[in-house]
Amino acid sequence: MNRFARVVFHLKIYWAHTANVIIRCIPGIESNRKTIVPNIWEHHLSHCGKRERNKNESEEKLFHIDPFFPIKPRLNSPRLLTSGLFEVHMNLISPEIEDYCINHSSRPSQVAKEIQEYTKKNVHGSQMLIGEMEASVLRFLISLGKVKTVVEFGTYTGYSALAMAEALPEDGKVFTIDINKETTTLARSFWDKSPDGKKIQQILKPGLEAMKELTEKYDLIFIDADKNNYSNYLAWAVEHLSQDGLIVVDNTLWSGRVMNSDGDKQTESIIAHNIKAKGLHGFVKTLLPIRDGMFLLKRDQ
Ligand SMILES: C[S@@+](CC[C@H](N)C(=O)[O-])C[C@H]1O[C@@H](n2cnc3c(N)ncnc32)[C@H](O)[C@@H]1O
Repeated sequence: MNRFARVVFHLKIYWAHTANVIIRCIPGIESNRKTIVPNIWEHHLSHCGKRERNKNESEEKLFHIDPFFPIKPRLNSPRLLTSGLFEVHMNLISPEIEDYCINHSSRPSQVAKEIQEYTKKNVHGSQMLIGEMEASVLRFLISLGKVKTVVEFGTYTGYSALAMAEALPEDGKVFTIDINKETTTLARSFWDKSPDGKKIQQILKPGLEAMKELTEKYDLIFIDADKNNYSNYLAWAVEHLSQDGLIVVDNTLWSGRVMNSDGDKQTESIIAHNIKAKGLHGFVKTLLPIRDGMFLLKRDQ
């Protein structure tokens, strides 16, 4: 074995070992929902070289990456390796590159920052926040056009709603929909600290009910609520989009699972949505690998 081959050989062993250790040592990763992220698993296997994928082995090593599961803080292991393995989730680029992009982009206000920090420390499911990268893209899109009215499906603790409200003109309006009373109340407590909070109107209802009340045309429709209704939200958005309006749908890459479905209902729903979005006549589309996938659609004119 020459020197190069020896280095590669040791790297493979190191990778295989580290990946195994990581998989085995993360509490909660051994899935109770029996979901595997196929592309990451394949990545792991291909780097393990000698291993052959077989049913028993993949069952033994089932690990689960859940968008609502706080993986990142538990991983103190080598960042380089984990960035290939786990941080793929909700973050298709390396954290270092994302930080660099954020640091060179317009940032949201101090109140928006507070929402993010408070949510990360105190609220279950903080991975659901769109984060600064996606917020900066939404704000940029709003500032490009003549966006005055926004409908958001999925308020959570109010970060994205405030980030968008800040980019709107004085007479702009964000209608934001959520079913969770607790997070909705928390969101309002933060918005009340901001001069842009008055632009935000909350609708505490399931998205499918709320949409019946929203009968106008809207300039930006941001879909980020329950994944099982993505196709319904898209159909409504197409009907209620203003002439120059823009539809933005979040999580459309679903950590890569859309490429190789795990059979999960949410994954299947997002895949169905993406097929519908792609097939929409009279629309231009772009699916961007920002965060967990941002699908952008506007009328072709
Ligand atoms: C991904 S979070 C939204 C994150 C938010 N856009 C942000 O970045 O701050 C999804 C939200 O959708 C809400 N949700 C779930 N099912 C819903 C439904 N059927 N109708 C409306 N909202 C729903 C959840 O309560 C949750 O707050």
